[in-house]
Amino acid sequence: MNKIRIGVIGLGNMGRVHARTLLEDKVPGLQLTAVTDAVAKAAEAVPEVTFLPTPEAMIASGKVDAVLIATPHFSHTTIGIAALEAGLHVLVEKPISVHKADAEKLIAAHTNPKQVFAAMFNQRTDPYYIAIREMVRDGTLGPVRRISWTITNWFRTAAYYASGSWRATWEGEGGGILLNQCPHNLDLFSWMFGQPQRVRAFCQFGRYHDIEVEDDVTGYFEYTNGTTATFIASTGEAPGTNRLEVAAENGRLILENDKLVFNQNEMPMSEFCRTSKEAFFMPKTVEKVIAVSGHGEQHVGILRNFAEAIADGKPLIAPAEEGILSVELANAMLLSSFEDRPVDLPMNGAVYEQALQGKIASSARSHVK
Ligand SMILES: NC(=O)c1ccc[n+]([C@@H]2O[C@H](COP(=O)([O-])OP(=O)(O)OC[C@H]3O[C@@H](n4cnc5c(N)ncnc54)[C@H](O)[C@@H]3O)[C@@H](O)[C@H]2O)c1
Repeated sequence: MNKIRIGVIGLGNMGRVHARTLLEDKVPGLQLTAVTDAVAKAAEAVPEVTFLPTPEAMIASGKVDAVLIATPHFSHTTIGIAALEAGLHVLVEKPISVHKADAEKLIAAHTNPKQVFAAMFNQRTDPYYIAIREMVRDGTLGPVRRISWTITNWFRTAAYYASGSWRATWEGEGGGILLNQCPHNLDLFSWMFGQPQRVRAFCQFGRYHDIEVEDDVTGYFEYTNGTTATFIASTGEAPGTNRLEVAAENGRLILENDKLVFNQNEMPMSEFCRTSKEAFFMPKTVEKVIAVSGHGEQHVGILRNFAEAIADGKPLIAPAEEGILSVELANAMLLSSFEDRPVDLPMNGAVYEQALQGKIASSARSHVK
């Protein structure tokens, strides 16, 4: 079978890793046939492959059937639309776009179902999150009452923020931790538990770093069925933590330090609350350590799945269309902080876009005045 010819757009930290993965033949169905970057010197990172001067040149070159977009966030939309309109298969890095209105435009450009359009949500291949999603969906947990996720182990230094002029600016990146690190967590959140209906958040801008965007976030979500959630993230805390706790009718699930533990109630908690004659006792629980090991295939898994979807029609692990949900959650948390109010979902993408444009226009670091 002929390999699918793929081009990598953007040869920075992530694009170089993807290019190397492809050159090392870790994805049997894909052959890297071209690369491009805004900086010509980037070609030196992948001397074995044809370097084309621009994404447009690559898209028109006839040398690729598919592209992997690993450029700064705003250009995911423009490059993605150009590639889709040219009939190419597209794998786009997270976040699929900076804001919901852009994500809608990008998704609208995917009109041909034969074209595969996926997003690099590599953490969806992690067996721990797969197991949690399964326990929600198959009823093991029963109705979920509260989700608490603290992800403060995204520590980044000042040197990290200085490593690219697009980083941590409204104009270049469109946000901070919510747009760069947390798209993975926000995607997993809605993938495992569904999209909340209301968001209230308190973002702190430049709390730990000399940056204008958020590096610390405390979010509160409400679902239509009454479930509540907190989402706490930071790039400034060390040592940080990554702890996900789910309080559900059938017990409590905790994921921390690569250990997934379910304390299963002998009786659903509401039923026990209603029927017990005791004033203070709680239901007895049985502790079950859920057998999971390793973190899955991650980026290679998404690349393999992309190739199989093109070649054999295999369902995608992360269809790009689903990427709008994490964009919307990030936007809603920022808007809630900008305007000091709860934001109902689905949110109006145009309202957020306008708010973001205001941040860009008033930024001391912006070129757009
Ligand atoms: N999935 C993951 O685990 C993961 C991890 C890191 C980064 N990312 C994502 O990858 C993307 C890139 O991040 P990075 O850390 O590699 O950034 P980076 O700054 O290291 O690299 C970006 C590269 O894109 C090039 N570029 C900029 N605009 C371009 C354009 N219009 N056309 C062609 N090339 C252009 C730059 O010259 C640079 O080489 C971001 O969307 C980021 O969120 C994903």
